[in-house]
Amino acid sequence: MPLSDSERFSGNEVLTDIKLNNPEILEVFNGWSDYIHSVMPKIEKWFRCITEEPYVGAGVTDIHRKEVIAKGEQHIGFPEMAKFIDLRPGHNGYAGNDQEAFDFIYEVETKYYEFNERMIVELGSRRNALCVIYPKGGYVGWHNNANASSYNLICTHSSTGEGYWKHRNPKTNEIEQIDDLVGWQAKASYFGAYVERDPETLIYHAAQCTGGYRMTVSWIFDRDNEDWWLDAIDELEAS
Ligand SMILES: [Fe+2]
Repeated sequence: MPLSDSERFSGNEVLTDIKLNNPEILEVFNGWSDYIHSVMPKIEKWFRCITEEPYVGAGVTDIHRKEVIAKGEQHIGFPEMAKFIDLRPGHNGYAGNDQEAFDFIYEVETKYYEFNERMIVELGSRRNALCVIYPKGGYVGWHNNANASSYNLICTHSSTGEGYWKHRNPKTNEIEQIDDLVGWQAKASYFGAYVERDPETLIYHAAQCTGGYRMTVSWIFDRDNEDWWLDAIDELEAS
């Protein structure tokens, strides 16, 4: 029996853990992560690792979180510090002239399109918002995505389980942490916008990979598509 929205987000919960029970969807996820695992050395060789940091891990500190929150609406919503590899087509950042690299990037983009098309059909999502790899030491610094307010699905694969997600619960102001597991895990939430003037929907969050590598793929749903989002969660959990 699917959970209703009120059952899923009980009490002060702002983020829900999704049980990835659906064998067909899990097969698609595993096919994608197995492929990525098999080509990681080439990805690290040819894809640019975006690094915006004064020092490693600066973006996930308490100091930086307080700085970002103190900015109020001057914080746009994007992370201000990060270190990751963007896998989405057109985001690889390759600036060389090596045909082998071009062929490989084309191969990854083709595989990504196949994976994402399949997931969009399974989830009924409007769009993929993110597909990144955090190498060891990689991270996304504190931010709130207020510039892309939506219902979301955040799916993470870790090769070793060394890493975490953190968010500030706007209802309690507590910092909550979800440790990575080996393999896939998924969560869902609603990230609000400043326009709502409702501080209870602004979810500041950050994540880091402390060993192995960590991949995050995210799909989002329009702010008026809550029902589709709940249906997608049920689909992921269907056994
Ligand atoms: Fe985010």
